[in-house]
Amino acid sequence: MEQAIGVFDSGVGGLTVAREIMRQLPYESLIYFGDTARVPYGNKSAETVIRFSKQIVRFLMTKNVKAIVVACNTASALALSSLQEEFDVPIIGVIEPGAVAAVKSTVSKNIGVIATEATVKSGSYNKCLRILDPKITVVSKACPLFVPLVEEGLLEDRITDDVIQRYLHELKDYQVDALILGCTHYPLLRNAIGRYMGEEVKLVNPAYETAKALKALLYERSMLNEDTSVSPHHAYFVSDGVDNFIKFADNVLPADVKMTSLVNIESY
Ligand code: DGL
Repeated sequence: MEQAIGVFDSGVGGLTVAREIMRQLPYESLIYFGDTARVPYGNKSAETVIRFSKQIVRFLMTKNVKAIVVACNTASALALSSLQEEFDVPIIGVIEPGAVAAVKSTVSKNIGVIATEATVKSGSYNKCLRILDPKITVVSKACPLFVPLVEEGLLEDRITDDVIQRYLHELKDYQVDALILGCTHYPLLRNAIGRYMGEEVKLVNPAYETAKALKALLYERSMLNEDTSVSPHHAYFVSDGVDNFIKFADNVLPADVKMTSLVNIESY
């Protein structure tokens, strides 16, 4: 199936998911939408995030995508089930793949989850983890300052180390042995977070796990692109700030982003 895969996020963060999909599914074309005009989703209500997500899925459907990845933890936590109910295309989010990997890697059964306020408040990771293994204890912590630190490029900085210490010391006290990086931006802080938490804590990247889950889903449904002779074509769309998007994307993605188009997402 040569149709593209739709990938969307509240902004630039979902590019960490797009990057993993490009690595694991090198023959698939992606259509990425970043809702840069309305970011952040992490402090918005479920109603708003569901409305925004439905508009984005309607837009992606006009591009005839064969599957959709909700590459945003907040939208996955708040809107995934509403999207799956309403639309006829396979749609996957990042929460379940992240939770499955965390359950596989924990020995102590103490799992930490760091995410936006909205994701933590939704309890989605907790629910999913406890369905997979009712013996698991989950400690969650919202880390709202991580998103702006990443967007400012402060991946290795004293300020970032201080903020990490401030947010994560409780998780250390709980002796978690697996920590879910439950927000699209956090995998970019992986080195700094790993240094603070120590080697014995496994950092789980839902972006990587989601790309694996997508590959399995496309394979099972015979939806993988079989024509490996042509390079995939990726297209990028945003609701605002094309130049900033391209700058961030060029730092995250393996290949330069040539063109990004503006979409009036409110009209969908
Ligand atoms: N993409 C969001 C997430 O993964 C983080 C940024 C936001 O708050 O919109 O939860």
